[in-house]
Amino acid sequence: MKKINPNCHNSYHGGIHSAKDHTLVKIDFSSNINPLGISDNVIKSLKKNIHLSYIYPDPNCTELKKDILKYLDCNIDESHNIIIGNGATELIHYFSSSFVKKKTIIPSPTFCEYELASRRKGAKIIYSKVKKDFQIDSEFIVKNSNNPNNDITTIFLCNPNNPTGKDSKNQVIEVLEKIDKKIIILLDESYVEFINDKQKKRSNYFINLIKEYNNIVIIRSLTKTWGLAGLRVGYAVSNKKIVDKMKNHIIAWNVNGLAQIAAREALKDKEYLKHTKEIIEKEKEKCFKRLGKNNKIKLVHTDVNFYLIEILNDKNSTEIKDTLLNKNNLLVRDCKTFTGMNNKFIRVAIKKSQENNELFKGLEKVL
Ligand SMILES: Cc1ncc(COP(=O)(O)O)c(C=O)c1O
Repeated sequence: MKKINPNCHNSYHGGIHSAKDHTLVKIDFSSNINPLGISDNVIKSLKKNIHLSYIYPDPNCTELKKDILKYLDCNIDESHNIIIGNGATELIHYFSSSFVKKKTIIPSPTFCEYELASRRKGAKIIYSKVKKDFQIDSEFIVKNSNNPNNDITTIFLCNPNNPTGKDSKNQVIEVLEKIDKKIIILLDESYVEFINDKQKKRSNYFINLIKEYNNIVIIRSLTKTWGLAGLRVGYAVSNKKIVDKMKNHIIAWNVNGLAQIAAREALKDKEYLKHTKEIIEKEKEKCFKRLGKNNKIKLVHTDVNFYLIEILNDKNSTEIKDTLLNKNNLLVRDCKTFTGMNNKFIRVAIKKSQENNELFKGLEKVL
């Protein structure tokens, strides 16, 4: 396994600032952000409220919590069960500071912040490699968490998972049902809203289990689904005891005033989310049809707004990333920095039609 350096964030994330020269990036396929851009309603609201930058924001995000509750439409209490973060990332670190002890379980590959946060606590990580079909290995996780010699206090699960794009709902259910209830699970659902699910039945499935399971923390992010990566908002939902522990780590005014306003407006914009899902589904089909014909690569089926491309010829992911950037000004995610992955995969976000066309052309030339 590659060793990850907890102080070196840039090399483990995508985004234009991961490029050696960010001015080269014309289209960023390396961060999995909503291709529609910021919704018009959010922009209007930000413009109208820009003067609020002058005052301190509500440190408790009271109104935003109420709006999250309305959005989730589930039976939880906003003052006790929700904590808001400067992006989901901040909450991952609060979780780790509160509950990670000697050892933790993290699937691989997955989002790197679970490793970074756990290493900060000095924890040993037991990696659970995803199966051949890229689904979470629930059997391995259950077996290792229930072994008393392992001293496991926490498990990190990203579902749908980054970078695989897989929704392992059944495997997560199995872990929840079979592990010792003293172990706390962080379930990162930052991409759940990108699943093609019209009635929110799938996306709210685990949120609705919060009352039943005392050992689960669900994290969501507004930075991808609503394109607020620069403003930074995420939230976690759990039981009161867990939320209170995580709240001990909050630094005052962690979520700025404009971010709170943008998030409140975004959650109300149902049309934007509907349109997002339609575009993603349509473009996903197009990408898989077009790139699926290329025998130098293999696409991994995805449940969300990004997908893995396996490189089958003798090129590697770094060469492909660098050439696409230098010659076509397109930035893709080189997956070799994901623990448990090699240099034969890149990850790309699904974007708007014209942008995806540019990727097809670029890839066809570079492969
Ligand atoms: C699974 C997952 N969780 C959380 C994040 C970070 O979210 P935020 O921008 O809200 O900090 C990312 C970003 O790539 C991610 O992939």
